Parts: sequence; C-alpha cells; structure tokens
Amino acid sequence: MSRVTDALTAALAILECPLCREALERVDGGVRCEARHHFDIAKQGYASLRGGGSAATGDTVPMVEARERVQATGAHDAIAAAIAAAAPESARWLVDLGGGTGWHAARVLDARPALHGLVLDASVPALRRAARAHPRLAAVASDVWKGIPVADASVDVALRVFAPGGGERGAAELERILAPGARVVIVVPEADHHRELVEPLGLLRVPAGKAEEAAASIPGARHEATTAVTRTVRVSRAEALDLVMMGPNAFHRDRDEIAAALDEWIEPIAVTIAVSVVVLTVD
Ligand SMILES: C[S@@+](CC[C@H](N)C(=O)[O-])C[C@H]1O[C@@H](n2cnc3c(N)ncnc32)[C@H](O)[C@@H]1O
Ligand SMILES: [Zn+2]
Repeated sequence: MSRVTDALTAALAILECPLCREALERVDGGVRCEARHHFDIAKQGYASLRGGGSAATGDTVPMVEARERVQATGAHDAIAAAIAAAAPESARWLVDLGGGTGWHAARVLDARPALHGLVLDASVPALRRAARAHPRLAAVASDVWKGIPVADASVDVALRVFAPGGGERGAAELERILAPGARVVIVVPEADHHRELVEPLGLLRVPAGKAEEAAASIPGARHEATTAVTRTVRVSRAEALDLVMMGPNAFHRDRDEIAAALDEWIEPIAVTIAVSVVVLTVD
C-alpha cells in the first residue's frame, strides 16, 4: 500500500459514511459502509465523501497555485507557527476544515509527531496536493458546510484557516466531532489585511469583527485566546498578484486586469499581513 493510502486507511478510525453515518472500510478502489454506500478513492489518493446535493467545487487550479507560491515565500510562516503552538501535545487527531493543500495541517503534524491528520476540502486540485502533503495526513473531498463525514467526539484539534464557517449548521457539525478537551483554531483576516492592495485595486473588503465572531462561533466551546499575527512583507508585482488571486477576489476579478494595474507599481511592494488566530477549547 502506498504512503498516501496508508494515511487514508488510518483516517478510517474517525471517518464515517456521509449518507448513513456508519463506519467505513477499505474495499477495492474505494471505501464502503455496512449499508454498502461506496465512495471512490482517486488515483491521487484522496477519497470522495461528498453527501448528496453538494455543488461546492472550492478553489480553482490558479487559486491553489497562487496560494502555494505565497506559502512558499514564508509570508504565512508566522501564522503556521501560531496554529501549531495551539495544538495540545496529547492530541491524536487533527481535522482541517477547508484545509486546501494541507500546508497548515502538515506544519502542525511536523510539530506533533504522535498526531494524525485529515484535510477536508471541496477543491479537487487542492486535495490532489493535500493527499501528498504529509505521511500522516489523509485528504477527503467533502462539502463541510453540508456535513462533516467524521464521527462524533473523535477530533482533538480542528483547524479552520481562511475558510468559511458554514453558519450555524457548520458550527453544530464542528461541535459534534470535537472530543472533550478539544481545541479549535480559527484563523481570520483583520480589516487591514492586505490593506495596501485592497484600496488601490478595489478588492473585496474584510469586515471588522471577524475574530470576535469566530471566538463566539461554537456555543459549547470556551474562548481560550486570540493572538494577532501582524507583519509587513515586501513582495514583487508577481507576488502581489498571487496575494490577490489566491483568495476570494479570484471569483470576482480578472487576473489580467489586476496584473495590468500592478504593472505601474514600484517593487518591492510593502503589504500588511494582519490576521487573528482564535483558539477555543471544549470542556
Ligand atoms: C482561502 S482557502 C484556504 C485553504 C487553507 N486553509 C490554507 O490556508 O492554505 C479556502 C479553502 O476552503 C475550501 N472550501 C470552500 N468552500 C468549501 C466547502 N463548502 N467545503 C469544503 N471546502 C471548502 C476551498 O476549496 C479552499 O481550499
Ligand atoms: Zn452509508
């Protein structure tokens, strides 16, 4: 068995059928529950556990590639370090909701050698990468705002990093999968995140108060701490374009138009990274 599917087999300890919530077992080419609901494992090593009726496709290839390049520059290293620091030493299972390529999850697994992880995401290009991001990390296609294909009280650390929360339903699902003593780590942008780009390029604005909203987002969890991660990065025009096109602006704006606007700018461009890392604990 390949290293990729090993991590997936290990994750069957916490995964469940998205249709009937029964446990899953490996069968030829996929996984199956007792009620014989069958789900494929893609050749790249991620399983598809989408419930019925999900149209979510998540981030596109250009968005995923742009985020990979940004993360490779070190611009998000301080965020990753703050996330890893919040994972309890004794944690056994981590789930990263909207975990993308698994970059943050892999950093936490590096810091916690006994921890196993699972990335849930709707984006196929992100999952292809997540399946190979770390030997102890499994990747599963799922629309997490419709339901989380993970067993009750089985998760010790849940991450939600720059990913939408899915409202009350999402919060209830997240609460359901948390084990007693579990930590939830939510990373949200502050209003001045990327401010040097937002105003001149007419980008989507980040509303203030997202950290407070995140801190109160799970009724059964206690707010432990909020850590501000703020720094200035100096980037090239191409890197500035990636900062714009790795996020939700990519769904609204034309890449060439942003690139043309940036052509006038003088390098290096100073850009503020301002996020809050919000940590909640379940008693
Ligand atoms: C801004 S990216 C962040 C990715 C990752 N957490 C990181 O920081 O590198 C948001 C992610 O949420 C995923 N996503 C959006 N809607 C989703 C949904 N309904 N279910 C699962 N994933 C979703 C996207 O595909 C994307 O990978
Ligand atoms: Zn089933």
